[in-house]
Amino acid sequence: MSIPSIEYLPDAAVDPLLDENLRRLLCLCFTKPCDAIFKERRYFNEPPSHRWLMRDQTGMAIAHIAVHEKYVVVDNVKYPIGGIAEVCVHPNHRGNGYVKHILAAIQVWLISQRVEYAVLFGNPKIYGSSGYQPVTNLFHDAEDGEGKPYFASVKAMVKPLTNQDWFTTEVYLPGKTF
Ligand SMILES: CC(C)(COP(=O)(O)OP(=O)(O)OC[C@H]1O[C@@H](n2cnc3c(N)ncnc32)[C@H](O)[C@@H]1OP(=O)(O)O)[C@@H](O)C(=O)NCCC(=O)NCCS
Repeated sequence: MSIPSIEYLPDAAVDPLLDENLRRLLCLCFTKPCDAIFKERRYFNEPPSHRWLMRDQTGMAIAHIAVHEKYVVVDNVKYPIGGIAEVCVHPNHRGNGYVKHILAAIQVWLISQRVEYAVLFGNPKIYGSSGYQPVTNLFHDAEDGEGKPYFASVKAMVKPLTNQDWFTTEVYLPGKTF
Protein backbone atom coordinates (compact mmCIF):
# COMPACT_ATOMS: atom_id res chain seq x y z
CA MET A 1 0.00 0.00 0.00
CA SER A 2 1.40 3.39 -0.93
CA ILE A 3 1.88 6.00 1.77
CA PRO A 4 -0.10 9.22 1.23
CA SER A 5 2.10 12.25 0.65
CA ILE A 6 2.85 14.49 3.59
CA GLU A 7 1.64 18.07 3.27
CA TYR A 8 2.97 21.00 5.30
CA LEU A 9 0.98 24.14 5.81
CA PRO A 10 1.21 27.11 8.13
CA ASP A 11 -1.87 27.32 10.34
CA ALA A 12 -2.55 30.75 8.82
CA ALA A 13 -3.12 29.03 5.46
CA VAL A 14 -5.96 26.82 6.74
CA ASP A 15 -9.11 27.79 4.83
CA PRO A 16 -12.68 27.32 6.14
CA LEU A 17 -13.10 23.98 4.34
CA LEU A 18 -9.91 22.53 5.78
CA ASP A 19 -10.74 24.03 9.19
CA GLU A 20 -14.01 22.06 9.21
CA ASN A 21 -12.22 18.95 7.98
CA LEU A 22 -9.55 19.23 10.69
CA ARG A 23 -12.10 19.80 13.43
CA ARG A 24 -14.00 16.72 12.26
CA LEU A 25 -10.83 14.60 12.39
CA LEU A 26 -9.85 15.99 15.81
CA CYS A 27 -13.35 15.31 17.21
CA LEU A 28 -13.27 11.77 15.83
CA CYS A 29 -9.86 11.04 17.38
CA PHE A 30 -10.01 12.94 20.69
CA THR A 31 -13.06 11.90 22.69
CA LYS A 32 -12.51 12.97 26.31
CA PRO A 33 -15.13 15.47 27.56
CA CYS A 34 -12.55 18.30 27.46
CA ASP A 35 -11.82 17.49 23.79
CA ALA A 36 -15.30 18.75 22.83
CA ILE A 37 -13.50 22.08 22.35
CA PHE A 38 -12.45 20.74 18.92
CA LYS A 39 -16.06 21.13 17.75
CA GLU A 40 -15.47 24.87 17.88
CA ARG A 41 -11.80 25.32 17.10
CA ARG A 42 -8.86 23.36 15.66
CA TYR A 43 -6.59 23.72 18.70
CA PHE A 44 -6.73 22.89 22.40
CA ASN A 45 -5.03 25.69 24.39
CA GLU A 46 -3.51 27.93 21.74
CA PRO A 47 -3.23 27.82 17.95
CA PRO A 48 -0.11 26.07 16.63
CA SER A 49 1.91 27.85 13.94
CA HIS A 50 2.42 24.79 11.76
CA ARG A 51 0.56 21.69 10.63
CA TRP A 52 1.42 18.50 8.77
CA LEU A 53 -1.27 16.40 7.10
CA MET A 54 -1.97 13.33 5.07
CA ARG A 55 -5.14 13.18 2.97
CA ASP A 56 -7.10 10.37 1.34
CA GLN A 57 -7.99 10.31 -2.38
CA THR A 58 -11.01 12.53 -1.75
CA GLY A 59 -8.85 15.19 -0.11
CA MET A 60 -10.05 14.52 3.45
CA ALA A 61 -7.42 14.79 6.19
CA ILE A 62 -6.66 11.34 7.61
CA ALA A 63 -3.53 12.05 9.66
CA HIS A 64 -2.42 15.23 11.39
CA ILE A 65 0.29 16.65 13.63
CA ALA A 66 0.56 20.27 14.80
CA VAL A 67 3.78 22.04 15.81
CA HIS A 68 4.01 24.99 18.17
CA GLU A 69 6.98 27.36 18.07
CA LYS A 70 8.05 27.39 21.71
CA TYR A 71 11.14 27.77 23.82
CA VAL A 72 12.38 26.47 27.14
CA VAL A 73 14.58 28.28 29.63
CA VAL A 74 17.54 26.68 31.37
CA ASP A 75 19.88 28.77 33.56
CA ASN A 76 18.41 31.97 32.02
CA VAL A 77 19.18 30.82 28.47
CA LYS A 78 16.34 30.28 25.96
CA TYR A 79 16.37 27.23 23.70
CA PRO A 80 13.89 26.89 20.81
CA ILE A 81 11.76 23.76 20.82
CA GLY A 82 9.16 22.32 18.47
CA GLY A 83 6.04 21.58 20.52
CA ILE A 84 4.35 18.55 18.96
CA ALA A 85 0.59 18.40 19.49
CA GLU A 86 -2.76 17.05 18.26
CA VAL A 87 -1.21 13.86 16.88
CA CYS A 88 -4.04 11.88 15.32
CA VAL A 89 -4.85 9.35 12.62
CA HIS A 90 -8.34 8.55 11.33
CA PRO A 91 -9.48 5.19 12.82
CA ASN A 92 -9.70 3.61 9.35
CA HIS A 93 -6.06 4.41 8.64
CA ARG A 94 -4.30 3.50 11.89
CA GLY A 95 -1.42 1.08 12.27
CA ASN A 96 0.24 2.09 9.00
CA GLY A 97 3.13 4.01 10.54
CA TYR A 98 1.72 7.38 9.47
CA VAL A 99 2.64 9.00 12.79
CA LYS A 100 6.23 7.88 12.41
CA HIS A 101 6.38 9.15 8.81
CA ILE A 102 4.97 12.57 9.68
CA LEU A 103 7.20 12.92 12.75
CA ALA A 104 10.20 12.16 10.55
CA ALA A 105 9.16 14.92 8.11
CA ILE A 106 8.65 17.34 11.00
CA GLN A 107 12.09 16.52 12.35
CA VAL A 108 13.73 17.42 9.03
CA TRP A 109 11.84 20.73 9.01
CA LEU A 110 12.67 21.54 12.66
CA ILE A 111 16.36 20.90 12.03
CA SER A 112 16.19 23.20 8.98
CA GLN A 113 14.77 25.87 11.32
CA ARG A 114 17.65 25.31 13.78
CA VAL A 115 15.29 24.03 16.47
CA GLU A 116 17.23 21.93 18.96
CA TYR A 117 14.55 19.74 20.56
CA ALA A 118 11.15 18.30 19.74
CA VAL A 119 8.94 18.03 22.84
CA LEU A 120 5.55 16.38 23.33
CA PHE A 121 3.19 15.16 26.01
CA GLY A 122 1.95 11.71 25.17
CA ASN A 123 2.06 7.96 25.47
CA PRO A 124 5.69 6.68 25.38
CA LYS A 125 4.51 3.57 23.51
CA ILE A 126 3.48 5.71 20.56
CA TYR A 127 6.59 7.88 20.31
CA GLY A 128 9.42 5.65 21.57
CA SER A 129 10.07 4.15 18.14
CA SER A 130 10.42 7.68 16.73
CA GLY A 131 13.26 8.37 19.15
CA TYR A 132 11.39 10.28 21.87
CA GLN A 133 12.56 9.65 25.44
CA PRO A 134 10.62 10.40 28.66
CA VAL A 135 11.93 13.29 30.79
CA THR A 136 10.88 14.39 34.28
CA ASN A 137 12.64 17.75 34.65
CA LEU A 138 10.19 19.96 32.73
CA PHE A 139 8.11 22.57 34.59
CA HIS A 140 5.43 24.88 33.21
CA ASP A 141 3.15 27.64 34.49
CA ALA A 142 -0.03 26.47 36.18
CA GLU A 143 -2.66 27.77 38.61
CA ASP A 144 -4.00 26.00 41.69
CA GLY A 145 -7.71 25.78 42.52
CA GLU A 146 -7.62 29.32 43.95
CA GLY A 147 -5.98 30.80 40.88
CA LYS A 148 -2.55 31.03 42.55
CA PRO A 149 0.28 30.52 40.05
CA TYR A 150 2.88 27.80 40.54
CA PHE A 151 5.37 25.79 38.50
CA ALA A 152 3.92 22.37 37.68
CA SER A 153 6.10 19.38 36.91
CA VAL A 154 4.93 17.55 33.80
CA LYS A 155 5.91 14.23 32.22
CA ALA A 156 7.11 14.92 28.72
CA MET A 157 8.91 13.18 25.88
CA VAL A 158 11.86 14.76 24.15
CA LYS A 159 13.89 14.14 21.05
CA PRO A 160 17.18 16.05 20.74
CA LEU A 161 17.58 17.16 17.11
CA THR A 162 21.27 18.02 17.24
CA ASN A 163 24.11 16.30 19.05
CA GLN A 164 23.14 18.30 22.17
CA ASP A 165 21.62 16.01 24.85
CA TRP A 166 18.53 17.08 26.83
CA PHE A 167 19.28 19.04 30.02
CA THR A 168 20.06 17.47 33.38
CA THR A 169 18.89 20.47 35.44
CA GLU A 170 15.35 21.92 35.72
CA VAL A 171 13.82 23.13 32.46
CA TYR A 172 11.13 25.85 32.42
CA LEU A 173 8.49 25.92 29.70
CA PRO A 174 6.75 29.32 29.87
CA GLY A 175 2.96 29.11 29.70
CA LYS A 176 0.73 26.09 29.47
CA THR A 177 1.49 22.71 27.96
CA PHE A 178 0.52 22.23 24.31
C1 LIG B 1 -2.29 7.39 18.59
C2 LIG B 1 -2.54 7.35 17.09
C3 LIG B 1 -2.19 8.70 16.48
C4 LIG B 1 -1.64 6.26 16.50
O1 LIG B 1 -1.88 6.16 15.10
P1 LIG B 1 -1.25 4.98 14.26
O2 LIG B 1 -1.59 5.18 12.84
O3 LIG B 1 -1.62 3.68 14.86
O4 LIG B 1 0.32 5.25 14.50
P2 LIG B 1 1.55 4.47 13.89
O5 LIG B 1 1.08 3.32 13.03
O6 LIG B 1 2.45 5.47 13.24
O7 LIG B 1 2.24 3.85 15.17
C5 LIG B 1 3.25 4.51 15.89
C6 LIG B 1 3.56 3.71 17.14
O8 LIG B 1 2.48 3.87 18.10
C7 LIG B 1 2.06 2.62 18.59
N1 LIG B 1 0.66 2.77 18.94
C8 LIG B 1 -0.33 3.16 18.12
N2 LIG B 1 -1.48 3.27 18.82
C9 LIG B 1 -1.20 2.94 20.10
C10 LIG B 1 -1.97 2.88 21.28
N3 LIG B 1 -3.26 3.14 21.29
N4 LIG B 1 -1.33 2.52 22.43
C11 LIG B 1 -0.01 2.24 22.44
N5 LIG B 1 0.76 2.31 21.33
C12 LIG B 1 0.18 2.64 20.18
C13 LIG B 1 2.33 1.68 17.43
O9 LIG B 1 2.40 0.33 17.86
C14 LIG B 1 3.66 2.21 16.92
O10 LIG B 1 4.68 1.77 17.77
P3 LIG B 1 5.97 0.93 17.20
O11 LIG B 1 6.59 1.79 16.15
O12 LIG B 1 6.83 0.77 18.42
O13 LIG B 1 5.42 -0.34 16.64
C15 LIG B 1 -4.03 7.01 16.78
O14 LIG B 1 -4.38 5.83 17.43
C16 LIG B 1 -4.97 8.12 17.22
O15 LIG B 1 -5.27 9.04 16.47
N6 LIG B 1 -5.50 8.01 18.46
C17 LIG B 1 -6.41 9.02 19.01
C18 LIG B 1 -5.71 10.32 19.31
C19 LIG B 1 -4.52 10.14 20.25
O16 LIG B 1 -4.62 9.45 21.26
N7 LIG B 1 -3.40 10.77 19.90
C20 LIG B 1 -2.16 10.65 20.64
C21 LIG B 1 -2.11 11.61 21.71
S1 LIG B 1 -0.63 11.31 22.67
